[in-house]
Amino acid sequence: SFPERVKIVEVGPRDGLQNEKTIVPTEVKIHLIDMLSEAGLPVIEATSFVSPKWVPQMADQEEVMRGLHKKPGVNYPVLTPNLKGFQAAMKAGAKEVAIFGAASELFSQKNINCSVDESLVRFEEVMRAAKQEGVPVRGYVSCVLGCPYEGKVSPNKVAEVAKRLYSMGCYEISLGDTIGVGTPGGMTEMLDAVKKEVPVEALAVHCHDTYGQALANILVALQNGVSVVDSSVAGLGGCPYAQGASGNVATEDVVYMLHGLGIHTGVDLPKLLAAGSYICHSLNRRTNSKVAQASCKL
Ligand code: HMG
Ligand code: MG
Repeated sequence: SFPERVKIVEVGPRDGLQNEKTIVPTEVKIHLIDMLSEAGLPVIEATSFVSPKWVPQMADQEEVMRGLHKKPGVNYPVLTPNLKGFQAAMKAGAKEVAIFGAASELFSQKNINCSVDESLVRFEEVMRAAKQEGVPVRGYVSCVLGCPYEGKVSPNKVAEVAKRLYSMGCYEISLGDTIGVGTPGGMTEMLDAVKKEVPVEALAVHCHDTYGQALANILVALQNGVSVVDSSVAGLGGCPYAQGASGNVATEDVVYMLHGLGIHTGVDLPKLLAAGSYICHSLNRRTNSKVAQASCKL
């Protein structure tokens, strides 16, 4: 059976844009976020407070946070890898943050320049500060179905990192198939392991679509009781520290599938398509959303 409603976490303005080589104008980012909130998305990951040397595209994080038009009831979380990022996020008015770890040692080193254990120590610091400020923290685990540097990743390792993030106080754990290599079989096995350590109500799936498996993987996750799905408008994106990884599953395609299943999302598909079309025109790029390709007269 499927959940009655699914919360979609739109990660396009962050995960979708972070890998763009050409710097996207701040006002384009802001307009995209505003169009997404108008489309009814309940959560929009707006930017990340990471080092501009590591991810130049996110260097305007403060302006983006100050410029977006906060819609009541919509959350605009931001990524914060360490206390410095957290403090900057608070200064910029963020009300929710996300810490991001990995189930793979090599990916952790490449992405945030520390081991998994070291990252958890940093995240504890962020968590302590967030608790003081009453700020909810989401936790990511990357490479849950495979790693660009290590290959296979054990479901037990994913479960262990997910459990540590959950125990430290993350209200939701997003399981990232960072390079989009997973299949429904791997997803089932991984969720079985994670569900032993973290209640399924607190789990989200974050599927990239490199191998075209994302919708199938999401469907399996829904059948397993997961009711939070991350996705990126127009299927934009990729992680700069995961070479070859393509974008997240397109939000348009997820919404189309969910609505077809009779699952409530609160998202207005035509308005979402307009947001996708806007950002693709701005980037001079063809959309990766099949639904948008089907409905656009290009
Ligand atoms: P580091 O070089 O080890 O940091 O980077 P450091 O503490 O040694 O500091 C070095 C310099 O960075 C210093 O500046 C710090 O002030 C500065 P300097 O003295 O040289 O001028 N610095 C910062 N500046 C701004 N904001 C900060 C910050 N922290 C330090 N927060 C660090 C460590 C974590 C900062 C770096 O590795 C980094 O920024 N990594 C982020 C990489 C990233 O954003 N990756 C993409 C997001 S993760 C993803 O996409 C996966 C996900 O979608 C899920 C999935 O798909 O699986 C979430
Ligand atoms: Mg991602």
